[in-house]
Amino acid sequence: MSKPKNVWEEFFANRRSGGHRSSAEQFLSKEAKEKLFHLDGGKTLLDFGCGAGELLVYYAPEYEKLVGVDFSASMLDEASKKIRERNHGNIDLILADDKTIWGMLDSSFDRITAAGVIQYLTDEEIDKFIANASRHLNKGGKIVFFDVLDPRLYPLWKIGLFSRDAGCWKIFRKIGFEVLTIISAILKNRPKDILGYTHKPCTIEGIANKHGFDMEYVQSMYYEYKYHAIIS
Ligand SMILES: C[S@@+](CC[C@H](N)C(=O)[O-])C[C@H]1O[C@@H](n2cnc3c(N)ncnc32)[C@H](O)[C@@H]1O
Repeated sequence: MSKPKNVWEEFFANRRSGGHRSSAEQFLSKEAKEKLFHLDGGKTLLDFGCGAGELLVYYAPEYEKLVGVDFSASMLDEASKKIRERNHGNIDLILADDKTIWGMLDSSFDRITAAGVIQYLTDEEIDKFIANASRHLNKGGKIVFFDVLDPRLYPLWKIGLFSRDAGCWKIFRKIGFEVLTIISAILKNRPKDILGYTHKPCTIEGIANKHGFDMEYVQSMYYEYKYHAIIS
């Protein structure tokens, strides 16, 4: 009997893109450049929750060996197409989740990263993720969580406060819409937000410190309501 899917696994089961602000090459290459700046070198990289490989293919020329991991077969299918089209021979893809991946790896990495993924993990799952990742990290390595939803800024973005045409009436309507969405999700017993959970920087930092790491966090350049947690 196959194991029951969790709500997020079901959500991503047939998806084929990571929901970036734009799927244009021009935008994705700029987004990847920002991420490569924070990854700051290393020779081997694990991209956890690599999705359709929208960033992974831009990381590929900068690393000797890369592994992309995702629990969505459709996402990995897209990633695999992109990797073939671009002739990257240095990427392996693995179908696994945050619990099963660690037993499937036969090497450790200089960088372990996840972009737009830890919002689908609870604090306890992040704690276990960092504990496991630390066992697969080379000396001097880094774990970098990109685009973590910031609980202080995300609600403001949701009600449209950062949009160019923000006005009182529009914001008021968005607040009403959000309230209805939350009520409907509660009634259907579904997550109240398809973007997942927010995490305070100090919570992630506390978990990182518990496992002997330091953490710094910086504002995401292309998503004003998200931050990057750089754990080293
Ligand atoms: C928003 S997408 C981002 C994809 C990719 N990192 C990018 O930036 O293009 C989130 C991805 O994380 C994957 N994911 C979420 N939770 C996961 C988990 N517990 N284990 C493995 N993959 C997960 C989803 O299947 C999805 O492909």
